[in-house]
Amino acid sequence: MIYRCITSIIPEIGGKPTENEGEKSHMKKVLIATAVLGITMMSTVVFAADAGEAIFKAKCAGCHPKGGNIMKPAATLKGITDPEKIIKQVRKGSGAMRGFDAKAISDADTKVLAAYIIKTFKK
Ligand code: HEC
Repeated sequence: MIYRCITSIIPEIGGKPTENEGEKSHMKKVLIATAVLGITMMSTVVFAADAGEAIFKAKCAGCHPKGGNIMKPAATLKGITDPEKIIKQVRKGSGAMRGFDAKAISDADTKVLAAYIIKTFKK
């Protein structure tokens, strides 16, 4: 009874209320819940991608803004395809770049960071 009242006030859900109406609005809720869950999962992926960016900004961007190199302009981060090259450089350093040990950047973070650099600074 109350349900019929509401559906006659809100025409979008209403129209001609049939016996199936309850079922339909339940389906709607299920669909919305599924969509919300999907969006939540997508933002987790976006967050994972941003972790590399956050590390880069905190530890590398000072000398490598936009993937360049303010100290040695030829040694940019652009066009690198091998993550191991980046990870080795991060750990050992060379020239004017000091290395970062596992306390500064964990093993897992070096991988996330390398993936971010490769995908962001293609050229
Ligand atoms: C103090 C400035 C400085 C910081 C901070 C710094 N770098 Fe460097 N980076 C350099 C310099 C200078 C070189 C060139 C090294 C050389 O002459 O051998 C270099 C070289 C590199 C190279 C080799 C590039 C090439 O093509 O030869 C990579 C990869 C690299 N840096 C990654 C990073 C990453 C990742 C970070 C952050 C974790 C970082 N660097 C932080 C100064 C820095």
